[in-house]
Amino acid sequence: MGLLLRDVQLGDVDAYVRMRCDPVMMAELGGPLPREGMPTKVRQDVESVAAGTAWVKMIVPDGTGTVAGTVALWSHEEDGATISEIGWMVLPEHQGRGYAKWAVRTVLEQARDADAWGLVHAFPGVTNAASNGICRSVGFTLLGERYVTFADRVLRTNHWMIDPRKL
Ligand SMILES: CC(C)(COP(=O)(O)OP(=O)(O)OC[C@H]1O[C@@H](n2cnc3c(N)ncnc32)[C@H](O)[C@@H]1OP(=O)(O)O)[C@@H](O)C(=O)NCCC(=O)NCCS
Repeated sequence: MGLLLRDVQLGDVDAYVRMRCDPVMMAELGGPLPREGMPTKVRQDVESVAAGTAWVKMIVPDGTGTVAGTVALWSHEEDGATISEIGWMVLPEHQGRGYAKWAVRTVLEQARDADAWGLVHAFPGVTNAASNGICRSVGFTLLGERYVTFADRVLRTNHWMIDPRKL
């Protein structure tokens, strides 16, 4: 596919701003986040990767150094249990080329090979056609709908789950 995944770096603030502070990119995620929070968010993500508590990967077309998007795995408490969650974004000029699907599949294969993360959940908005398409075509199972809180906003989502060992 001519793509690679690399860990997030401190220099990725501009890419975060383009992904998380843009009304179109964030239309299905409750709207844009404030730019001033991005340096802290990048630093926290770099620290989480260093500590091994999250995988935050940037999608980079081979030989370019340009960030096309991101895919991340992290865990959190839900109803007293710890669950693993995956999320992804691809910038507009790189969309529609299979990048997100490739990145999601690749990081799940890495999770399987490292025996990390266990069952993986995804919560795309119910109206997010592209992300629900990715879940379906990568092989997630649809468990139902769920309201989830993302960046302090409550979103109506589809609840998908996959066992990376069955990829
Ligand atoms: C969602 C997003 C990551 C998709 O990235 P992408 O690289 O364009 O997606 P891909 O090209 O890998 O497409 C993956 C699948 O979704 C389908 N798809 C893509 N866009 C679609 C659309 N608008 N409507 C329906 N299906 C769509 C593709 O056909 C493909 O399915 P296939 O393998 O069966 O052909 C990207 O549009 C994005 O970042 N949007 C804004 C942020 C966001 O919503 N993030 C996700 C939060 S859960």
